[in-house]
Amino acid sequence: MSFPFEFLDTIRARLPVSSVVSKSVTLQKRGREFVGLSPFSSEKTPSFTVNDQKGFYHCFSSGEHGDVFTFLMKTQSLSFPEAVERLAEEAGLEVPQSSPEETRRAQRRTTLQDAVEFATGFYEQKLRSPEGRVAYSYLRDRGLRDDTIQKYRLGYSPSGNALKAALSRENIPEDVATEARLINPAQEGRLSFDFFRDRVMFPILDVRGRPVAFGGRVLGEGEPKYLNSPETPLFHKGHIVYGFSQARPSASDKAEIIIAEGYMDVIALAQAGITNAVAPLGTALTENQIALLWRIAQEPILCFDGDAAGRKAALRAADRCLPMLEPGRSLRFAMLPAGQDPDDLIKAQGSDAMRLVLDEAIPLSEVIWRRLIEGRRIDTPERRAALEKEADELSRLVSDRTVQNHYRRLIRERIFELFRSPAKPALSRARSSVRPASQRERRPQSARQIDGTDVRQRILLATLLTHPGLLGHVEERLGAMPFDDSRLDSLRQSALMHLSRSPNLYFEALEAHLVELGFAEELKKLISPEVYIHAGFARPKATLEDATTGWDHTFSLCKRDELEADVRQAADDLINDPSDSAFAVFRSLRTEGQASDENGGL
Ligand code: UTP
Ligand code: MN
Repeated sequence: MSFPFEFLDTIRARLPVSSVVSKSVTLQKRGREFVGLSPFSSEKTPSFTVNDQKGFYHCFSSGEHGDVFTFLMKTQSLSFPEAVERLAEEAGLEVPQSSPEETRRAQRRTTLQDAVEFATGFYEQKLRSPEGRVAYSYLRDRGLRDDTIQKYRLGYSPSGNALKAALSRENIPEDVATEARLINPAQEGRLSFDFFRDRVMFPILDVRGRPVAFGGRVLGEGEPKYLNSPETPLFHKGHIVYGFSQARPSASDKAEIIIAEGYMDVIALAQAGITNAVAPLGTALTENQIALLWRIAQEPILCFDGDAAGRKAALRAADRCLPMLEPGRSLRFAMLPAGQDPDDLIKAQGSDAMRLVLDEAIPLSEVIWRRLIEGRRIDTPERRAALEKEADELSRLVSDRTVQNHYRRLIRERIFELFRSPAKPALSRARSSVRPASQRERRPQSARQIDGTDVRQRILLATLLTHPGLLGHVEERLGAMPFDDSRLDSLRQSALMHLSRSPNLYFEALEAHLVELGFAEELKKLISPEVYIHAGFARPKATLEDATTGWDHTFSLCKRDELEADVRQAADDLINDPSDSAFAVFRSLRTEGQASDENGGL
C-alpha cells in the first residue's frame, strides 16, 4: 500500500514530532530541541533528542533515528500503513484510498521519470556533439557560461528522430515515450516522431530536482519561440515553476524568491549571482504556484517585463493572489524599465542595476491601489461614490478577514487623502512661463556644468513622473526651467500636458502614454537605476513627502547652477563692454548668488 507523498508531508506538517513522542516519553525543552530518556534503551541520563524544525528524533545511545511514522512503528510495533492511519486520524485527515490502480500509476510515474531523465541526458550530450555546435554557440553568444549550461542541464534536440532512435536502443518502450510526450504518437499515415526537433532544450525539473518536461527554444527566429511539453502524468504545469529546485536553497536562506517571466531570465539572474529566481511555465501564475512559493518566502517578488504584456501578467497575478492573502503573506512587484526583461537589463547595466530594481519592489496593495485610481476623475460626488464602491468590492475579494479589513482601511485612507488634495490642472501657465529660446542660448556652457544640470533636470523630471501627485507643487517651477536637451524639453512638455489633463494618473499609466509618444529612449534614462543612485527620492516607492523635499532641494541646486552661469556671462560681458549698465547687471547677479549660497542653496 502506498500513500501519496504530499499526504505524508501534510501529516508531518500537522504533527510535530514532539507531540507524538511526548505521549510515551517525558520531554524537556532544551534550546531548539527536546530531550528525554530514550525509549530504545534503558538509561539514566537523557540521550534522546527531538527536533521539530527538522521533523525527526535521534537517540545517541542506540543510534535510532526517524520521523513520526518510524517512531510509532518502532515503539508500538505497527506496520507503516497502520502508523499512517493512526497519525492521520490524530491529524484529522482522511486516509486516501489507495487502489491497485493507484499503485500501478505510481510505478508508471517512475518509468516515465526514467524516460525523461534519459532524454535530458541525451539532449545534454547532443549539445556537446558536432550536431549541437550551432545550439551551443547560440547559448554562449547569449552570454551563458559553461557551468551555467550544466547547472540548468541545457541541451539540444537534433532534427529528425534522433531521440526516438536512442530510446529504442535503450529499450524504453514507445508507449512510455509517447506518454511522457517525448515523441508524438503515430497517427493514420504517419509514424511517431520526436516532439522536439532542432531546439535548445530547457529541462523542467520537479520540486525534487528530477526532470519531468521540457521547454524547447527555436534557434534564432521562428514560431513558436518556445515549444513546451504538454501536461503528462508527471508534469502539471500549474504546480511547478521553472528553476525551483535550483533556486530553493538560496531562496530559503534569504527568505526571498523572485518570479521572472521566462526561462532565460531565471538563468541570466542566477549567472549574475541572483540565484533565487523562478519562472512560471509559459502560462499565467497559478494559485498552486503561489502557494508553492509561499512555502519559501512570505512575499515573493514578481519581476515582469516593463512592456504592456508584462504589466498585464503582473496585474493578473495580483488579481489571482488577492483572495489567497493571509496575514504576512503577499506579493511584491518589481517594475522593470519598459521593454526590458531581467536578461536584457543585466546585459545592459549589470547585476547591481537588477538588484536595485528588486529592492524597489512595491507591495501588492500599492499595485491594486494604482490600478484602482488609474485614469479616474473624482471631481463629482457620483464619481467619488463610484470609486468608493469599487474599492469596497475590491477589498471584499480578500478572503482572510484580518487582511481584508486592512485593505479596506488602507484604501479608505488613501481615497480620503485624494479627495482632500486633488491635483490642479495648470499647464497653460507652466507653458507660457518657459523662457524664450534666445535667452537660453545666451548661457555659457562649460561641459562639467552641463553634466551637473543635465543630471539634476533628469532627477526633477523622473521624480515628477514617479510621483504624479507632485504636479501642483512643481509645475510652475519645472515649466519655467530652461532645458538644454531638446528631447528632455519636449518630454517635460508632454508630461506636464498629460498630467494636467488627467490628474491622479498613476506612474505606470503616465509612462505608458509617454512611450506611445515616442519617448521610450528618454524614459529609459530617467526611470533608471542611474537616476535612483543620485536621488533615492525619485524611486517609485519613495513617499510623496520625500519626493517633495528631494525635488525642492534638487531644484535649488539647479537654480544655483543657472545663477553661476549668469554671473560668469555677466563678467564676460563686462570685460567686452565695461559700461555702467553691464556692471550693474553683474553686481546684482553676484549679490543674488551670494544670498542664495548663504541660504544654503548649494
Ligand atoms: P518571452 O517571449 O518574454 O521570451 O517569453 P524570453 O523569456 O525573453 O526568451 P528569450 O530571451 O527571447 O529567449 C517569456 C516566457 O514565456 C513562455 C516561455 O516560458 C518564456 O520563457 N513562452 C514564450 C512560451 O511558452 N512560448 C512562446 O512561444 C513564447
Ligand atoms: Mn529575453
